[in-house]
Amino acid sequence: MILAWVGSALTMLVFLTKDYEELSREAARMVINAIRRKPALRLGLATGSTQAGLYAELVRAHREEKLDFSRVSTFNLDEYVGLPAKHPQSFRSFMSRNLFDHVNIPPNQIHIPDGTLRGNFDETCAKYENEIRSSGGIDLQVLGIGRDGHIGFNEPASSLASRTRVKILTRQTLEDNRAGFAPGEEQPQAAITMGIGTILEARRLLVLASGTAKARAVAMAVEGPVTASVTASALQLHPDATILVDREAAAELRRKEDYERALEMTRKLTPGRLW
Ligand code: F6R
Repeated sequence: MILAWVGSALTMLVFLTKDYEELSREAARMVINAIRRKPALRLGLATGSTQAGLYAELVRAHREEKLDFSRVSTFNLDEYVGLPAKHPQSFRSFMSRNLFDHVNIPPNQIHIPDGTLRGNFDETCAKYENEIRSSGGIDLQVLGIGRDGHIGFNEPASSLASRTRVKILTRQTLEDNRAGFAPGEEQPQAAITMGIGTILEARRLLVLASGTAKARAVAMAVEGPVTASVTASALQLHPDATILVDREAAAELRRKEDYERALEMTRKLTPGRLW
């Protein structure tokens, strides 16, 4: 009875951390455990400022604890359309700077959508889906949340069944990602992104959110209705999603006490569900 309660009362496990540093350390601990448990982990990755602390911790674990990435394969969620891979704001560059240049993932095990979209758009997207599927599927997908509640670049009004495709970015997302582009420089208006349907097929999801700017999106994702208007709310449909939030990002959650109790009970009764 109690086990059933733990399984059904909350679709998501919500971890509350005190600040960004603790959030990054906890997220890294979870990813490191997953790699130690399965050295050939198929790891889905996100870009953005929220992820920087996690990647710094993974690099530290590689250097200091000999965490081995040689059998890990990675699949990034998204990439800007029309930006050369070498541009400092491309997601490929972000990943190289923050992680890939500092750990031992063989380059042929790194997958990032091809934002240059040479040839046919649909073909490029189908090819990425195929790469994920033929690898055996993603074991653990790391995600961030946009201020408008997006995951990947699935902006509001994206189909919850969507697959990898090109999405036009909203004004708010363009504004949020403006820093880093030179004044007057043209900013990409679109991105190629895994769809919500693609993301929901990953076996486990680990979502990170930090700071006051994310508080509304987090509350809507965790406690709001499942809706294409807030694509992060689709996380509620996943059987094994964990969201890590710092105090600021948790500010608008109404059921914090319940989440803490659920976590405690899960620790006791179904520790396998934890990391
Ligand atoms: C990027 C991605 C986006 C970001 C989100 C939050 O790969 O998937 O969904 O995670 O825009 O970005 P930050 O962390 O910069 O606030």
